[in-house]
Amino acid sequence: MKLYRNLANGIIEGVQEVLGNRMALRPTLKNILIKNRKWGSNDRRLVGKGIIEIIRWKRKFDLIGKLNVKSKNYYRNLLVVWSIYNDIELENCFTFSDLQKNNIHDPLLIKKSKRVFKNSIPDWLDNLGMKTYGKVIWEKEIQTLNRPAKLFLRTNTLKTNVKKLQAYLNENHKVNTDKVSNIPNALVVKENKILTHLDIYKKGWFEVQDLNSQKISIFTNPKPNMLVIDACAGSGGKTLHLAAIMKNKGKIIATDSSDRKRKQLEKRLERNGVSIVEYLNSENKDFFKKYINSANIVVIDAPCSGLGVLKRNPAAKWHMNPKSIKQLVGIQKQILYKYATLVKSGGNLIYATCSIFPNENQNQIKKFLKSKIGLEFNLEKEEVLLTQNTDGDGFYVAKLLRY
Ligand SMILES: C[S@@+](CC[C@H](N)C(=O)[O-])C[C@H]1O[C@@H](n2cnc3c(N)ncnc32)[C@H](O)[C@@H]1O
Repeated sequence: MKLYRNLANGIIEGVQEVLGNRMALRPTLKNILIKNRKWGSNDRRLVGKGIIEIIRWKRKFDLIGKLNVKSKNYYRNLLVVWSIYNDIELENCFTFSDLQKNNIHDPLLIKKSKRVFKNSIPDWLDNLGMKTYGKVIWEKEIQTLNRPAKLFLRTNTLKTNVKKLQAYLNENHKVNTDKVSNIPNALVVKENKILTHLDIYKKGWFEVQDLNSQKISIFTNPKPNMLVIDACAGSGGKTLHLAAIMKNKGKIIATDSSDRKRKQLEKRLERNGVSIVEYLNSENKDFFKKYINSANIVVIDAPCSGLGVLKRNPAAKWHMNPKSIKQLVGIQKQILYKYATLVKSGGNLIYATCSIFPNENQNQIKKFLKSKIGLEFNLEKEEVLLTQNTDGDGFYVAKLLRY
């Protein structure tokens, strides 16, 4: 396979934006594809794959290419190592004279190297993983987190059922899927493809949603006619699922601190045929007064390090560090203590993150339970969903009951 200059430059630009300028991965990828509308679907796929793989394997490529991260050609050199490693031919202008090609194909070099190089992770993350899980579980988890994410769909039961969806995808679009055990409305797509242009996506028959993200709403177990507050709703991945489980009956108040995602949420609500959701900005003071002690369920899908979703966003391991995680733990605490006041007596508080580490999860809940408001709650159950056991992203979820 040959990678032409404009595509190679697109990859370098994306990697530099994310690693050098610390920009978020998905919006960067989107911007590059928008700027280069003339690229065909294969080109777009290759550029996306290149950016994600280079970010995922950065530290391994640094080692095998003996790269100098301070060199002005660093990002270009990362691209050269990635292309050699994957047998992708580059145009001549991309040759890198200092590079020892033999190193790149030397399996022993990687085999003999330390875990942080083999798995391309920063030292602090390796220390945290080892301390939390020990060698056997951590090595398996980090290896799984370095694999590309599988594509999972959630059937929108307000519009169709899983059997009809599976048959339609297969017969009309040659998209083959498998059912997923224990998650009745989930399908896994056998070949990763873009499906959001399909007629039935536009009609709201399905959403693209990770398996374990689906498990959070199932774990929440809302019932029709309840009042549910979905704090940190973002663009509504879980809101839509909660509404479907509630059979679109009752009320969901979706809040977020960022109004940017509101438009996306509104479009998705319409497509999914969901009419029970009201959106409010979390800064709205009247909201906390109005709904004090009143919700059957409050779901907090808290902002977090994202260290459970490295399959999807490998940039998090380079963007995060112990200090930024500590700041996030502070934000999570504020949200948790504030939203807990909205749960009515006998109601549930659900706290979830896409992190697999205790400081954002179990420790956060332990401290909460000792606080003034926390003393009114009891921990009913908690689960850590590791990627090695489930195929989906890594999550933590806790269910608390208010006395
Ligand atoms: C993990 S994401 C939510 C994902 C969403 N629930 C879903 O299923 O698609 C966390 C969200 O928390 C929001 N957020 C951050 N700080 C917040 C705060 N102080 N209050 C409310 N929401 C906040 C972010 O804007 C982001 O959308």
